[in-house]
Amino acid sequence: MIRCGIIGYGFLGTRLAQALTDYRPRGLLLTALANSKGYIFSRDGFDKQSLPRDLSTHRGFKQDTPLQLIEDGLLDLIVVLTPTNVYTGNPGLTYIREALRRGIDVVTADKGPLVVAYRELISTAKSAGASLLYEATVGGGIPVFSLARHSLRGDRIRSVRGILNGTTNYILTRMHFEGLPLDLALKEAQMMGLAERDPSLDLGGIDSACKVVILANALLSMDKRLDDVYVKGITQVTSDAVMAAKEMGMTIKLVGSIEGGHLYVAPRLVRLNHPLCVHGTLNAIQFRTEVMGELTLIGKGAGESTVSALLSDIEWIIDRRAVSRVGP
Ligand SMILES: NC(=O)c1ccc[n+]([C@@H]2O[C@H](COP(=O)([O-])OP(=O)(O)OC[C@H]3O[C@@H](n4cnc5c(N)ncnc54)[C@H](OP(=O)(O)O)[C@@H]3O)[C@@H](O)[C@H]2O)c1
Repeated sequence: MIRCGIIGYGFLGTRLAQALTDYRPRGLLLTALANSKGYIFSRDGFDKQSLPRDLSTHRGFKQDTPLQLIEDGLLDLIVVLTPTNVYTGNPGLTYIREALRRGIDVVTADKGPLVVAYRELISTAKSAGASLLYEATVGGGIPVFSLARHSLRGDRIRSVRGILNGTTNYILTRMHFEGLPLDLALKEAQMMGLAERDPSLDLGGIDSACKVVILANALLSMDKRLDDVYVKGITQVTSDAVMAAKEMGMTIKLVGSIEGGHLYVAPRLVRLNHPLCVHGTLNAIQFRTEVMGELTLIGKGAGESTVSALLSDIEWIIDRRAVSRVGP
């Protein structure tokens, strides 16, 4: 049995725990749940009835770091769903480093650790024979990495472009269709819970830039960091500019791209009938490959659908462990 712990029991963590106890994947036990204050652990695993709403009210709640569970060898797989810090990678980076070093598999939706230390983490995973999967870090539930890794295995990705941030795409969509100025569209997004109270990472293009870094390192074998991305956000985009674009059959989108070894995030003119021209909070990712040519994926870039990407990574790990048990 694979003993799985979820570190970060917030929006995604609670939904993943519900999904795992709903359909109970064969060969996996959900044995630990952790937040910033402590954790609960059950050797026999949690089921739907025993899942707490609030960890700290559970009678087995331990005010301790979940690193303890990793160090004591009580987990085989951790799912890291901690808040993102794109400059230090922590707290997720510490958990992931420690787990991989000990051969514990990792699934994560937290971009920070990958942006800060992608190469290091992949090399630690390799040496320890562990897996590090991160489908949920880019495009929410859209199967970006699994598609590239499996379906495009014999092909070669040459360039990638994408609408990678739902908040800015919502704002630009409202500016395009309703003629709203940026500050009003932002207020609306905040009221709907689509934008943070401090929206600077989204509006400044940093969130998109992190995703571009992960795509470049994971899909094009690059070794890039946040500093390597030319970043321009949408704060200077005016409703006049959006309206002028509209008159020409175009719109303005915040596009992240990897072209000829360079990484960019900037507002770009996009034709209204272009496959990347998705509206609202949708994300779109377009690959240009050597054999297949252009391929565009469109879907929800955040929210509950992200759990689909986490489940897919977890299932991949279950399969991989089953195969390695059977042997070559
Ligand atoms: N939400 C989405 O749609 C989405 C989509 C793609 C990727 N992501 C990424 O996925 C991650 C989780 O997102 P979320 O929306 O679930 O976040 P969230 O609701 O803010 O939950 C974060 C959880 O992490 C816990 N945490 C904070 N510091 C911790 C620490 N030092 N040790 C252990 N746990 C700690 C928090 O504990 P407390 O409750 O005690 O504070 C909380 O339970 C983020 O990195 C986010 O960027 C989210």
